[in-house]
This record gives sequence, C-alpha cells and structure tokens, in this order.
Amino acid sequence: MDDRIVVSRDDCSGCETCIDLCPRDCFHLDPKNIAVYTSTRCRDCYHCIASCPEAAISHRDLPVEDFQLIADSLNPDYKDGDQTHSFLKSIRSTRNFLEKPIELEIMEKLIDVTRYSPTGHHSQNVELTLVSEPKTIQQLKDVSAETIVSFLKKIDNPFYRFLAHLVGKGKTIRKAQKTRHRFVRMLEGFQEGTDYLFHGAPAVVVFHSNKDGTTPGDNCNIAATYLSILANNYGLGTCFIGYLTYYAKYNPDIRDILKIPKDNQIYQVLIVGYPKHEFRTFVSRDQPKINLV
Ligand SMILES: Cc1cc2nc3c(=O)[nH]c(=O)nc-3n(C[C@H](O)[C@H](O)[C@H](O)COP(=O)(O)O)c2cc1C
Repeated sequence: MDDRIVVSRDDCSGCETCIDLCPRDCFHLDPKNIAVYTSTRCRDCYHCIASCPEAAISHRDLPVEDFQLIADSLNPDYKDGDQTHSFLKSIRSTRNFLEKPIELEIMEKLIDVTRYSPTGHHSQNVELTLVSEPKTIQQLKDVSAETIVSFLKKIDNPFYRFLAHLVGKGKTIRKAQKTRHRFVRMLEGFQEGTDYLFHGAPAVVVFHSNKDGTTPGDNCNIAATYLSILANNYGLGTCFIGYLTYYAKYNPDIRDILKIPKDNQIYQVLIVGYPKHEFRTFVSRDQPKINLV
C-alpha cells in the first residue's frame, strides 16, 4: 500500500481541490466528506500538497521546507505578463563574455531551477554536467577540431559520399556539404585562436539523459531553457551550442571528457557567462506562422 501522501482528517474540509487537481485520480471523498488517498498510481507531482487550501496534505518522507509557501518567496506583483513578454523578447544569444567568473550561489540557483522544469511522465531524468575548468573546455575544443577534420575528410571523399548514398544517408551528406563552410570557419578559428565553439564563455552546461527514458530530449531542452531564462534574469548571458551536441554524436571522446554515463545521450548544451555588451533594442523577427482552426 502506498501511504507516502498523508491527509490530515482533522484539517481536510472536503473541498475536493486535490480530487480536481490530481492528474492520476489518486483521491476520493469518504462518506464523511474527507479526502482519502488510495492510489498506487501517484507520480509524485505533489499538486495535492501544493494546492490544498487547508494545508491538510503532506508527504511522509519529504522535508516540509520543500513545500514552503510560494507567497513567502515572490513579490505579489511578480506576475506581470507585459514585463515578462518584454523580458523574453530581450533575451539574445551571448557570444562575447567578460572575464568574470559566475558566482557560486548564482550557479547553484541556475542548476537548482532545472529541477522544476516539466518532464514527460514526471520522469525527472535530466542530468547536468558543468564544465568550468579552462583545461576541460580546451580539451573539448581540441576534440571538436579533430571531429571537424575527420568529418570534412568524409564529406569531401567521393567514395564515402557514394557509400552514404547507397545506405540511404545521401541527404545527410548533401546537407553537411551545404554547411561545410561553417565547419571550416570553426576549424580555422581553432587554429588561429578564435573560439567559435564556446565563444570564450567561462562555463558550459551540458544536458544529458538516458536515451531510453521518457522524452529525454524534450526534457533536456526545456530544462536548458529554464536555466537560460533565469541566467539572463541574473544579468548573465547564454547561448545554446548545437555544434557540441552534433560533434558528440560522431566523436565518443567528447562523451568521455564529459564523463557522460554509458546509456546517456547529450541533448543540449548552453554556454553561460557575464556578457561584454548590452543589447539596446529588440530585434525584428518573422511573423508567427499560425493557423487558427
Ligand atoms: C538548438 C540551438 C542550437 C544553437 N547552436 C548554436 C551554436 O552552436 N553556436 C552559436 O553560436 N549559436 C547557436 N545557437 C544560437 C542561434 O544561432 C540563435 O538563437 C539565433 O541566431 C537567434 O539569435 P538570438 O538567440 O540572439 O535571438 C543555437 C540556438 C539553438 C536554439
């Protein structure tokens, strides 16, 4: 029997909020109009505890501090849609950084917030690797350069292209050829000492997850977005680094340097640091492509 969720019979008013909110129908009212938790289907979302108006529901094993009142942490006017809209519009990719380290307390908050991003089936399966050692960042750049060299060798080789075509990978190779100049630019940058991969950022955050888990890529992308938004709110800048995710697919050395567990895949990478420049204006963007049906 699952008795982790405890309803205080003295405090329950029978308002049915838990019954309405539980996504797994774990609650019902007993004949005395008291909520009863009976299910083994609980997915640990804790909507019941977070919403009970009488604070009648608790968790047997988890610390009460985890369930502190939201109102104690947030200003009453924090929900300002217009401000949030403008703030989100103002976030740009940062590719120029100050030589200023990120404070430990801020880094801890950035990591902490990823625990609260939604995950499919509440799987909570996002894992983070934080790289801030210059030596490790350099190793990643060196291995990325090797990856580009071997990659260019392949796409420039007519025999390899023919083979790829035979095994149904022709489209992938054609796409890679179209973007060849980007890889060449990055490689030349490495050779000349310009960092087109991490743009000189002091920290790289790698989001990975067990590839056989529930929605691992989506969960990593959402967690990275949470971290990015919070970082920008702390005055930091961020940029997604799809290139490293891409190189990691082809070169296992990247996983080894990052000590990524065997069954995990890298799904997202973010660079973080204090921006050297401020953006003064919003930017123009395509109109949304939206169908109203
Ligand atoms: C999934 C993803 C991968 C990206 N990969 C890179 C990258 O490897 N290097 C880079 O400099 N920017 C990368 N970007 C940043 C985009 O180029 C950038 O978001 C886009 O040009 C729009 O600019 P803005 O973010 O400043 O509005 C990536 C963005 C996303 C969403």
